[in-house]
Amino acid sequence: MEKLLSSSGGGGAAAAVASQGQLPDCFVFPADRRPPASTATVSLPVIDLSGPRDAVRRAVLDAGKELGFFQVVNHGVPPEVMREMAAVCEEFFRLPAEDKAAFYSDAEENPNRLFSSTIYEVGDQRYWRDCLRLACGFPVADDTNTHWPDKPHHLREVAEKFFVATRGLGIELLRLLCEGMGLRPDYFELDLTAGDVIINVNHYPPCPDPSLTLGLPPHCDRNLITLLLQGDVFGLQVSYNGDWINVEPVPDAFVVNFGHLLEIATNGVLKSIEHRAMTNSAVARTSVATFMMPPMECLVGPAKELVAAGDQPQYRTVTFREFMRIYKTVGARRESVEKAFKI
Ligand code: OGA
Ligand code: NI
Repeated sequence: MEKLLSSSGGGGAAAAVASQGQLPDCFVFPADRRPPASTATVSLPVIDLSGPRDAVRRAVLDAGKELGFFQVVNHGVPPEVMREMAAVCEEFFRLPAEDKAAFYSDAEENPNRLFSSTIYEVGDQRYWRDCLRLACGFPVADDTNTHWPDKPHHLREVAEKFFVATRGLGIELLRLLCEGMGLRPDYFELDLTAGDVIINVNHYPPCPDPSLTLGLPPHCDRNLITLLLQGDVFGLQVSYNGDWINVEPVPDAFVVNFGHLLEIATNGVLKSIEHRAMTNSAVARTSVATFMMPPMECLVGPAKELVAAGDQPQYRTVTFREFMRIYKTVGARRESVEKAFKI
């Protein structure tokens, strides 16, 4: 298994070089694209979802409008479900290379696969990340989890529980946002969340030189809403006024952000904000990102209720399939996606 960064037992070309303390050339970014340090002093709000509904609704909408990113605690996903998921994902990446090899695939159309070191933009630099991607439709079909790795043996059962609980939280957050914006509470539940939920388990092994590379490039998510279990190792940074905010790990919290589809669907009331993942040289970091998606044929466009009388919508209405086609060609930077869909 040459391709994974996380190959235990000494396998993996990159891992072998890395263990000798040098970052392989293919991961070294040109000087002007290396990660600039963060100088921001702002921190993301941490919202307790068990508070009075009025206050919670206001806090979620304010944070969503102001930063596009926030953390939530007491959110209803049982802490043991989160901890089991984090543990089984870490265990997966510690498996011997031969156990992971069967699941490795570079075929993008494959919804369930393991891949590594993706090149996202024009250029040759690779990102310091392995990724296990899992897909789950709702309601969950009996055979869904048979498409996921069967090692560690409890991965399937744990991941299914996590998918169900996390999707429930995503729906609840969308309801709060709808109530806050004056949309019907189930506005997003008709088609926009009727597609698969996708999980990316991002694994960033210790990196020989974090100043020269990134785990994930600055990007906006392509979905409706993202819930990130970032674990207890720092790595996520969020764009803010030309600077980068460090997202402090908070025990049992989810980091929440909006994807481009929510920006389009809310006619720009909620924005999709760029973020990136830093690496570190000391410890491996594993994060679990849950993305809520519409089906491919779903039309995505500004809600009429959010376009003032006499105004034009600010974004084009497209099918999700068309959105993805364009997103893949323009890249995930905020500016390019905005240019492609703004009227
Ligand atoms: C993502 C993402 C950030 C992280 O998976 O889209 O932004 O901290 N992950 O792993
Ligand atoms: Ni992201």
